[in-house]
Amino acid sequence: MSDLIMDGSSPPQPPPQALLERLKDYGQEDAFALWNELSPEERLLLVKDIESLDLSRIDRIIRCSIRSHGLPAAAIEPVPESNVSTVEERTLEERERWWKLGLKAISDGKLAVLLLSGGQGTRLGSSDPKGCFNIGLPSGKSLFQLQAERILCVQRLAAEAMNDGSTRSVQIHWYIMTSPFTDEATRRFFESHKFFGLDADQVTFFQQGTIPCVSNDGKFIMETPYRVAKSPDGNGGVYAALKSSKLLEDMSMRGIKYVDCYGVDNALVRVADPTFLGYFIYKGVSAAAKVVRKAYPQEKVGVFVRRGKGGPLTVVEYSELDPSLASAINQQTGRLRFCWSNVCLHMFTVDFLNQVANGLEKDSIYHLAEKTIPSVQGHTIGYKLEQFIFDAFPYAPSTALFEVLREEEFAPVKNANGSTFDTPDSAKLLVLRLHARWVVAAGGFLTHSVPLYATGVEVSPLCSYAGENLEPICRGRTLHAPCEITF
Ligand code: UTP
Repeated sequence: MSDLIMDGSSPPQPPPQALLERLKDYGQEDAFALWNELSPEERLLLVKDIESLDLSRIDRIIRCSIRSHGLPAAAIEPVPESNVSTVEERTLEERERWWKLGLKAISDGKLAVLLLSGGQGTRLGSSDPKGCFNIGLPSGKSLFQLQAERILCVQRLAAEAMNDGSTRSVQIHWYIMTSPFTDEATRRFFESHKFFGLDADQVTFFQQGTIPCVSNDGKFIMETPYRVAKSPDGNGGVYAALKSSKLLEDMSMRGIKYVDCYGVDNALVRVADPTFLGYFIYKGVSAAAKVVRKAYPQEKVGVFVRRGKGGPLTVVEYSELDPSLASAINQQTGRLRFCWSNVCLHMFTVDFLNQVANGLEKDSIYHLAEKTIPSVQGHTIGYKLEQFIFDAFPYAPSTALFEVLREEEFAPVKNANGSTFDTPDSAKLLVLRLHARWVVAAGGFLTHSVPLYATGVEVSPLCSYAGENLEPICRGRTLHAPCEITF
């Protein structure tokens, strides 16, 4: 007689047969490998965890993604010049026209802002969602607060621009995508900061999906003996998440036509930029991206290309770009042939989002990102499966790129301080230096006890969105850097 029966406890139950058979169909039966060592509660958790997975869909994605991983892709071509609005060719008159056109659409309630905030931020190494991060500006504001205040500022500018004697207030709806890893903490942060002055009703949180992490032979990695390791399905999971949360209907119901979509980790992001929106409307395209010029050929950024002869616009990762192509020069422009870096700043029509939400869903090829994954065997190398926001571009009937200056609009916060680039410290300095230039241009003076390249001024987004309206505050005033300018 076994010890178990001798001591009065029941004999071990085998795993539920039907579930085990289903797992076997997909070669994933190892998920039950430690069944005999689990307590009854843990067994229940494991069964629930497996039952929550759409095994046939996941199996299709794993097989298709592993099969196509590393295969040579179709040849690429540079993006035609006519597809890009460059900084140097843009006239003042055009900028003003697009700014006004954008503000008008905003005051008509046609723009929503969509934040991608479901990433785990592993490189930054903070346990909080990235948006909660304080990058060390004099104000101590978090990334979320900087973005919320830029929305408040654009709302005010749009209301002022209506100029029709009405007292109608302008509201930009803010959709915030989280994941199971960031959702609760993000909501709590917004609530505890009273939505940074925004109306709680103008913010909608929704969650993206997750997908199991796999070993290189496609087997599920177990995070614990009773839970499959999962990760968010990439920022391109936004399309499916918008659909399953019925937010595309919500947008239509609110009369929203355009969606400004961006990543959480850019301290200089111009959320709801009226100029970009005005350009987008003027071009009449379905999808557009702000791009910055690649800093040097081997810079580790993805670039926009055309896939195949005359093919659709898409992004290739730096690792996929042959070094000789990466350094090739366009003799006519003197720029790199592949120079338009993707910085995750996009504009879409709601119509296009609807189209993509149905199209991408059927796409079973995900990107495989090799990562260290916590597992029952300790930290193990495996793959996270992800879709990317730019995977939608090849589906777009018409596209455009809009160049912006990196020192004005791109201050990435990717790595922890102490790393060589894209840290909170480097982002803070980019903000301080840009705002110092605004203050000087508005007639202010700066004194500083550390070299100016290592300090600067912070301008509250409540005072100015992009350097405008600072003269009354700054002209003739001497400021000691670092400091914050606010009302
Ligand atoms: P990154 O690719 O930099 O990933 O995300 P990450 O998760 O923030 O950081 P690491 O790689 O773990 O260090 C770019 C943007 O896409 C969002 C992120 O929140 C960030 O705004 N993102 C990423 C999602 O919304 N969901 C995802 O599944 C992945």
